[in-house]
Amino acid sequence: KSLEFIKTNVEGKVGIIQLNRPKALNALCDGLMQEVNAAAQSFDKDDNIAAIILTGSEKAFAAGADIKEMATREFIDVYNQSMFSSWGDITKIKKPVIAAVNGFALGGGCELAMMCDMIIAGDKAKFGQPEIKLGTIPGAGGTQRLIRAIGKSKAMHLVLTGDMIDAHQAERDGLVAKVVPADKLMEEALIVANKIASYSLPITRMAKEAVNSSFEMSLQEGLKYEGRLFYATFATADQKEGMDAFVNKRAPTFKHH
Ligand code: HXC
Repeated sequence: KSLEFIKTNVEGKVGIIQLNRPKALNALCDGLMQEVNAAAQSFDKDDNIAAIILTGSEKAFAAGADIKEMATREFIDVYNQSMFSSWGDITKIKKPVIAAVNGFALGGGCELAMMCDMIIAGDKAKFGQPEIKLGTIPGAGGTQRLIRAIGKSKAMHLVLTGDMIDAHQAERDGLVAKVVPADKLMEEALIVANKIASYSLPITRMAKEAVNSSFEMSLQEGLKYEGRLFYATFATADQKEGMDAFVNKRAPTFKHH
């Protein structure tokens, strides 16, 4: 089936998903989100792919959920359909997912970026949760993931004022891992993705799983979970290879098992 709202592309071992709905600044209509989830799931299953980049255009990563689509929906419609319930599917992807953000990442756009494992931003990117201006509130993690990323006071400020912050502020606040020149965004995101892709895939999965467990567990449970996964790395050939390579001052060749 041909893609209407996104483009996909493979560069080496990196799968790239580009939101491509320019007339609406990549507003996240239902069809777009279905295509994003399907593409991410297919990259996750593909043995030739080791990392995924989700990006938008120079003007917008995504300007939010589609306001025109939502405007006339009633409570009973959005409640019965559990609107947005499939949005979180991107968080179930096992391979690392990098959000490469240029331009606006607003509302659902900011929430989608936060569902990824890290955000790399072009220096002209802008982040915000402007739902309050529309008479609604964030509905795909903006009141939950944002507070974990930047803390209560800054999250409240964004959610209650609807103000935007720029890429540098977002980096200082801890929302963004790295700010790069806007025209170098994909180049820089690919450098990070390729570096991750050069390591052992199962070990990378375990690292992602361990970090993400911290959101769901107490410190003691999380430390135990981390320990289990750490011990499990010793059952892999790649741990033997990585440590042997260090000891013998050579480059490791990971076999992904
Ligand atoms: C539908 C949108 C849209 C959106 C922009 N467009 N954002 N359509 N949903 N979220 C459309 C505009 O209607 C317009 O179409 C075209 O894209 C270009 O947008 P402009 O407003 O003309 O561009 P500009 O003046 O440059 O302003 C950019 C902007 C502004 C600041 C990003 O578009 C804006 O404020 N957008 C809405 C941002 C927002 O409120 N997002 C949160 C949505 S609620 P036409 O056809 O008129 O030319 C949300 C809830 C999430 O995300 C809940 C859980 C998922």
